[in-house]
Amino acid sequence: MTTTTTFSMQRVDPYSPPLEHLRIQRESPISQVQWRERPLWVITKHADARTMLGDTRFSSDRSLPGHPTNAGYTSAAKLKNLIEMDPPEHTQQRGRIMNEFTVKKIAAMRPRVEEIVEEAIDAMLASGTEADLVAALSLPVPSVVIAELLGVPAEDHALFQDNSAAFVDADSTQDERIAAMGALKEYISGLVADRVQNPGDDLLSRQLAAGAPTDELAALGFLLLIAGHETTANMISLCVATLLDKPELLQQLRDDPSLLPGAVEELLRYFTIAEVGGLRLATADIEVGGTLIQAGEAVFALTNTANRDPEVFADPDRIDFTRGARNHLAFGFGPHQCLGQNLARLELEVVLEAVVRRLPTLRLAEGFEGIVFKEWGPNYGVYSLPVAW
Ligand code: HEM
Repeated sequence: MTTTTTFSMQRVDPYSPPLEHLRIQRESPISQVQWRERPLWVITKHADARTMLGDTRFSSDRSLPGHPTNAGYTSAAKLKNLIEMDPPEHTQQRGRIMNEFTVKKIAAMRPRVEEIVEEAIDAMLASGTEADLVAALSLPVPSVVIAELLGVPAEDHALFQDNSAAFVDADSTQDERIAAMGALKEYISGLVADRVQNPGDDLLSRQLAAGAPTDELAALGFLLLIAGHETTANMISLCVATLLDKPELLQQLRDDPSLLPGAVEELLRYFTIAEVGGLRLATADIEVGGTLIQAGEAVFALTNTANRDPEVFADPDRIDFTRGARNHLAFGFGPHQCLGQNLARLELEVVLEAVVRRLPTLRLAEGFEGIVFKEWGPNYGVYSLPVAW
């Protein structure tokens, strides 16, 4: 066991998890470190991360005292959502919503996602010869997709999109962010109330018909927006930045578009952007990888480091579209594994296919060095991506 006071989530090399985490993986793969002034077990190997994330005795309930994500939590102020629940509550709520996200349901969305992406690229090309790809493509695509998934009427898309963008915009002040979040919550609650009166053939109406209480559904709608917007946007930006920085990878996709699904999987593994998805609280004494973790201790599965585990991914720091990386942990693992993963894969595939096909002269307007990365999370990504064509 190692105790270090230098544990930090900051990424310094844009293509790597923090080097300190890779060192822990090599030298002492389950270690106790100091983080935010308290001890935290970090789990860095792929197999151990799966064991931990698959065991619900490691709790996701952030209202529990001692939970590593508990800071500032006020249970009266907010309704718990799916991502911070344990069984049986979690099993029941997730069971109700799961059939909205099956491979088949999501595959049926492909033609509409393609239209959304084509329209965003049309608008970007019509705007001139330079753009910020984050504002032109990465943020609007997932925002429109989620709006349509939730059944937000077309006339409200601008309000929905403006507030979603303000919520994640680095230039927004804290007050602006809180105001945008409040407006979105209020909007989604209003949408749920409307579906009670006027049910239609949409996700919210189907959930109401299946017995979901209105406040639970409003919290879920908001979670879908938060969980599915900035994450997907960050991945779109990182994928495009990588292809423009490494022309040999871009050329591979030009020569053989059938590599796209493998490329998406590999880039999901490579960047593993959800930095804080693996935080849990042990509610029993549990052994993981030969180390006893005691009830009441905080635990963190470092999925970005686990996804560079050389025992699972040979030559893990190399980007290889043909490696078959599907067993990565970028969407987490176990009962909380990303509900929207099929949708995220679809959006990434459609966007990358369109970028490769439609933007043959696309380049980084200020070089790779000019990109400012979100080094501190909670999701890894870029703040803006100046491109030209
Ligand atoms: C590239 C994009 C995405 C990444 C990397 C990502 C990553 C993750 C991760 C790591 C978790 C597990 C968190 C934990 O274990 O506590 C998660 C959960 C979740 N994600 Fe995603 N996600 C993405 C896109 C989406 C999309 C598009 C949606 C839906 C529209 C979505 C909805 C959710 C929900 C609802 C959960 C909670 C599931 C539960 O607690 O049972 N995500 N996501």
